[in-house]
Amino acid sequence: MENLEKVNLESTRLILKPISLEYTEDVFREFTSEITTYMYPKRADNIGETEKVIKDMIQQRKNGNDLVLVMLKQETLEFLGICEVGAIDTDTPELGIWIKKAVHGKGFGREAIGLLKDWVDHNLESECLSYPVDKRNIPSRKIVESFEGKVFREFQRINKSGNLLNEFEYRIYK
Ligand SMILES: CC(C)(COP(=O)(O)OP(=O)(O)OC[C@H]1O[C@@H](n2cnc3c(N)ncnc32)[C@H](O)[C@@H]1OP(=O)(O)O)[C@@H](O)C(=O)NCCC(=O)NCCS
Repeated sequence: MENLEKVNLESTRLILKPISLEYTEDVFREFTSEITTYMYPKRADNIGETEKVIKDMIQQRKNGNDLVLVMLKQETLEFLGICEVGAIDTDTPELGIWIKKAVHGKGFGREAIGLLKDWVDHNLESECLSYPVDKRNIPSRKIVESFEGKVFREFQRINKSGNLLNEFEYRIYK
């Protein structure tokens, strides 16, 4: 497997690179309660909390567990959001993504998931990927379904904001 510190994925419009503390302010500003509506984590109450979360992401990358990448716009290096391949040391790595509200609906989500899937296909042995998503999250479901994702199971969980999520766990097979 490629050295996780050196991963740099590019498409026509995007650059994905390993998260660092340089992006603390962007993440704190853009990871709002609206963004987390259908997500498990909750927004940070203060910037120190965001810094702690990013430090933990960096540690998980060093441990070889999770690869969290920032999404930047090619020409301007504008911060767009975050995506990840989690549980990379297991049989079923998990994809995750959020994008800042100002650039929703421009196809960046699908482009980023395509880059992550390509990276997984070339670097990991796993036969399938997991993609959990709340039933009501139509844009996210459209993305996973466009990569031939199939519903593997349904489950419920309370997210860190205290709201009930009704999740489909999709699986994308090689
Ligand atoms: C989910 C998310 C990453 C999608 O990213 P995006 O760049 O806005 O999505 P895309 O532009 O690639 O659009 C994907 C599809 O959803 C559709 N879509 C986008 N926004 C939509 C909206 N508000 N309502 C309905 N459909 C929408 C697009 O038209 C496209 O559909 P198509 O396949 O018919 O063309 C983004 O909405 C987001 O960050 N949401 C908040 C965090 C989150 O829920 N993350 C996912 C957790 S599983």
